[in-house]
Amino acid sequence: MSLNKGHPIMAIPGPTVVPDRVLNAMHRPSANIYEGELVEMTDHLLDQLKKVVRTDGYAAIYLANGHGAWEAAIKNTLNEGDKIVVLSNGFFSHKWGEVAATHKFDVEYIDYGMASDADPARLEEVLRADTDGQIKAVLAVQSETSSSVRNDIPALRAAIDAAGHDALFMVDCIASLGCDRFEMDAWGVDVAVSAGQKGMMNPIGLSFVFFNEKADAARAGANPGQYWDWTDRAKSKSFYPRWSGSPPGHHMFALRETLQMMVDEEGMEAVWARHATISRAVWAAVDVWAEAGALALNITDPAKRATGVTTINTSPGVAHKIRRWCQDEAGVTLGNSLGFPLDEVEDHFRIGHMGHLNIHMVMGVLGAIETAMVAQNIPHGAGALSAAARVLAAHQAI
Ligand SMILES: Cc1ncc(COP(=O)(O)O)c(C=O)c1O
Repeated sequence: MSLNKGHPIMAIPGPTVVPDRVLNAMHRPSANIYEGELVEMTDHLLDQLKKVVRTDGYAAIYLANGHGAWEAAIKNTLNEGDKIVVLSNGFFSHKWGEVAATHKFDVEYIDYGMASDADPARLEEVLRADTDGQIKAVLAVQSETSSSVRNDIPALRAAIDAAGHDALFMVDCIASLGCDRFEMDAWGVDVAVSAGQKGMMNPIGLSFVFFNEKADAARAGANPGQYWDWTDRAKSKSFYPRWSGSPPGHHMFALRETLQMMVDEEGMEAVWARHATISRAVWAAVDVWAEAGALALNITDPAKRATGVTTINTSPGVAHKIRRWCQDEAGVTLGNSLGFPLDEVEDHFRIGHMGHLNIHMVMGVLGAIETAMVAQNIPHGAGALSAAARVLAAHQAI
């Protein structure tokens, strides 16, 4: 007899829980794609998105997942053969480099492993050595979803500046937008890419590219092709070219709703503060479980952890046991191991804690994990949920 009835929860780092009011916003007939609401809404969506990343630059929306935004960023700015440096500290940062290589860019990785943030000093060294300016772009992920490390974007910018290098600085905020603080203009980011299905609480299907004048100027010569070209999407006065064809009406209604929730109602500072507290609650629980030795946080320095996802190292096989039990018996879907050498025996799992979350959802996920360990005799320290509760309660008291 199963206890697994009731509402399931996605606790993977995207796609995340889509709020009911966002689902409801989509629950309507198709709108006219030539005039009316969709036409009027497009500028509004772009303006709102720019508030999320804090830029006065340009924004473009694509009907695509994150891979689409990756391609758009590099294809709009670089030419075949151009050299780029990829700061790799996990599956996704490396993958962005692999995608770039398929477009015949000359990709150099600086590999920081699976448990370290990107060291700005090493980047500076590489850029200083590039005396004839061969490197055209530096690609980094803000929060690496596989290892859950968070790169210090302002420090990486400072390294580029210290080297006196002119390379474009491109940042993947796919797992961090709406979770970790991100200030595109203040931090000197030239191109930022993101997608809707994580902190942005939307169904999979939209991705976003933000760029400044410098990145736009770099376009000269680049041939992104009609669909990926960001010019019309960001700047056209005509509606149809802005979407390079039929606009995704239902996705637009969903995005409008989430942006209203984030920008107009909760406010970005509060969104970031909520994620910061929730992440600390998750870490507090894992640290207590870790006392028994079967698992531990992958990123040891709290200042270098992503706020939307937590990667947990376990003894071989333990991650698999926890993940399967939570899925089959508790209705909680946890993130699998990604990018680690022993993925086949699953000695890592990930908790996604991004987007539409409150205390009972977070405590429910942590409670399910603890129950999975009790049920399967997996050693764990006692008092993890109390430790998480103390962090959450302190936030409530602010
Ligand atoms: C940091 C990061 N970049 C890129 C991607 C790729 O996005 P998508 O799977 O939507 O193509 C992901 C997906 O999880 C991600 O977490």
